[in-house]
Amino acid sequence: MIRKLLVLTGDHGAPDPTKRGGAYHEEDLATHAAMAEAMTAMSGFEVEVVSRHEGLLDRLRADPPDLVVNFCDTGFFNVPTQELHVAAYLELFGIPYTGAPPAAMVLCYDKQAVRVIAEAMGVPVPWERMVPGDGPAEPPEDLAYPALIKPNRADGSVGITKDAVVHSAGEARDYLAFLRDLLPGADALIQEYLPGPEYGLGVIGNPEPGLTVLPPLEVDFSRLPAGLAPILSFESKAMPDSPYWTDIAFKRADLPAAEVETMAGAVRRLFRRFGLRDYARFDFRRGADGRVKLMEVNPNPAWANDGKLAFMAGFAGIAYPAMLRMIVDAAIERLGRPAA
Ligand SMILES: Nc1ncnc2c1ncn2[C@@H]1O[C@H](COP(=O)(O)OP(=O)(O)O)[C@@H](O)[C@H]1O
Ligand SMILES: [Mg+2]
Repeated sequence: MIRKLLVLTGDHGAPDPTKRGGAYHEEDLATHAAMAEAMTAMSGFEVEVVSRHEGLLDRLRADPPDLVVNFCDTGFFNVPTQELHVAAYLELFGIPYTGAPPAAMVLCYDKQAVRVIAEAMGVPVPWERMVPGDGPAEPPEDLAYPALIKPNRADGSVGITKDAVVHSAGEARDYLAFLRDLLPGADALIQEYLPGPEYGLGVIGNPEPGLTVLPPLEVDFSRLPAGLAPILSFESKAMPDSPYWTDIAFKRADLPAAEVETMAGAVRRLFRRFGLRDYARFDFRRGADGRVKLMEVNPNPAWANDGKLAFMAGFAGIAYPAMLRMIVDAAIERLGRPAA
């Protein structure tokens, strides 16, 4: 019987490279409070919300809950490369948890791997080249412009600024040099720039007994001042003074049913292939050729009430607390144990 839930989030007191100024602020604490309120009001459970990582591992071993709601999407002590370690630790000690296992996180954190696998599965993806972090920071000769440059392994738009869209070999060289400085030794990707609308597709559930595909979301860049590349840059996630922070909105995507079905089909296959669990979000953009292409698979997507997943749930008439409940229920059903 699952009765005691421990909701684990990022550590509010530790630095966080994906947040504004590298730390948690009132906007993060506000979404955390809304989540904690909804979780503690969830009927049938005793809920504890933990956002301190100091002492966490010992505590989990000494007094394991019945289920960890793993909303730690920042990593242990907010170290992005140690996001999977939290899930791995829980697995080692047999503590059930919601969301993706470590294997899925490893795979999805490597964008080149995601792209190669998706392409092999027949899912449209952008053209791409890698610039290895141990070689010259030079754009490949056969590159067509505009192109988008981003780190192969990163999250939260780290390494994707307004200048990530490059229009010439000179701009590409400058941006690669900037990335080299920001993330020394890191592999960079240069991709076909997808100029069309950006979509998100969120799912809750599991292949068995079934995935709920939420209505697709479109990122509304229409209010962004002319001259700024319409992308979800680091500024959009961490710089409140930037138009990227203030002028981007989310709306329900208005897409033909057949196209949504094609995307949903790809998402179902990718969910299974990457070994995702309980919920996930897939990001797409339309290319210059009119085709919708996969950009990213998020195994541990943002759970906040102002995040994309919550918007998508809202499009389906699912209120935020009900969305959280669906995630918990998906995990409990998967674990094959009745809810309390
Ligand atoms: N090939 C591309 N063409 C156009 N925009 C892109 C491309 N790749 C990334 N972006 C933009 O950059 C944002 C962040 O890229 P993404 O790969 O999702 O990285 P992250 O893991 O940091 O979210 C996307 O939401 C999109 O706006
Ligand atoms: Mg993304």
